Amino acid sequence: MTHALKTAPRTVLDLEDIGREYGGLRALAQVSFSVAEGERVGVIGPNGAGKSTLFRVIGGAERASHGTLAFAGHDIARVPARRRARMGIGRTFQITELFGSLTVRENLLLAARAADRIEPVVERFGLAGQLDTPVSALGYGQQRLVELAVTFATGARLLLLDEPAAGLGAAERVLISEAIRDLPSDVTVLLIEHDIDLVLGLVRRVLCLAGGRLVADCPAGEVRTNPAVREVYLGEVHLGESESA
Ligand SMILES: Nc1ncnc2c1ncn2[C@@H]1O[C@H](COP(=O)(O)OP(=O)(O)O)[C@@H](O)[C@H]1O
Ligand SMILES: [Mg+2]
Repeated sequence: MTHALKTAPRTVLDLEDIGREYGGLRALAQVSFSVAEGERVGVIGPNGAGKSTLFRVIGGAERASHGTLAFAGHDIARVPARRRARMGIGRTFQITELFGSLTVRENLLLAARAADRIEPVVERFGLAGQLDTPVSALGYGQQRLVELAVTFATGARLLLLDEPAAGLGAAERVLISEAIRDLPSDVTVLLIEHDIDLVLGLVRRVLCLAGGRLVADCPAGEVRTNPAVREVYLGEVHLGESESA
C-alpha cells in the first residue's frame, strides 16, 4: 500500500467552480479540473474563450471572482502572483516579456539567481552560442525559446505556456515543440495553442474552453471526434481531417 501511495501521481493543480468576471462579462464560469504532476495538457478554444484569463487566474496576475484554487495541496486563491511564482508556477505570455537590452545570460541569471543553476538550462535549450547576445538582437523564435528557458530556470514545476509558438515559422515551431516535449517528465505543462496538430503532438489530454466554460476535458486522441469540441469549431478549419459522414 505504501508503495502504491508513493507512485500515485500527485495532484499539482486543482480548480473548483472557478469564475472570473469583468463587469458584466463572464470570462470564466464554473471551471473545474485537476492536473496531476507531470501531466501535459492542451488548452484549446476560440478567441475570447477565456484561455489567457484562465492562465492569469492560475498564475495570480488576476484573482478569480469565485471558486477554489489549489497548487500542490495549498489554497492559493489569495496568494499574490510573485509568491505563486516562488512556489513553482511559471508563465510565458502571448508576447515575450524578456529584458531586451540584457543578454541571454543576464536574463537567465535574473531568473535562476545563481550561475551554477543556469548551466543545465543553457545545455537543455541549446543556448550556449547566444549567452552574450542581447535578447533584442535575437530572432523572434529564439526569443520565445529563451523565454521558455527563463521560465524553466526559475525552477517552475508548473509551466503555463500561452501560445509559445504563435507567430513562428515552421522550423522555429519545431524547435519550440521539441523544447516543450523534452522538459523533465515531472514538470507539469498547460499549453494554450491554436495549431491543433502541434497540441496533439505534445499532450495526452485536452481541455476545450468556449464562452468561459470548460466544454470538454478529453484524451488527445478523442479531440477530433469529441461532440462538444466539434460544435465549438463548427465551420472552422482547425480540426481538419476525420470528417465523419
Ligand atoms: N482585462 C479585461 N477586461 C475586460 N474584459 C477582458 C479582459 N481580459 C479579457 N477580457 C475578455 O474576457 C474574455 C476572455 O478573454 P481571453 O481570456 O483573453 O480569451 P482567449 O485567451 O481564449 O482568447 C474575452 O471576451 C475578453 O474580451
Ligand atoms: Mg489568449
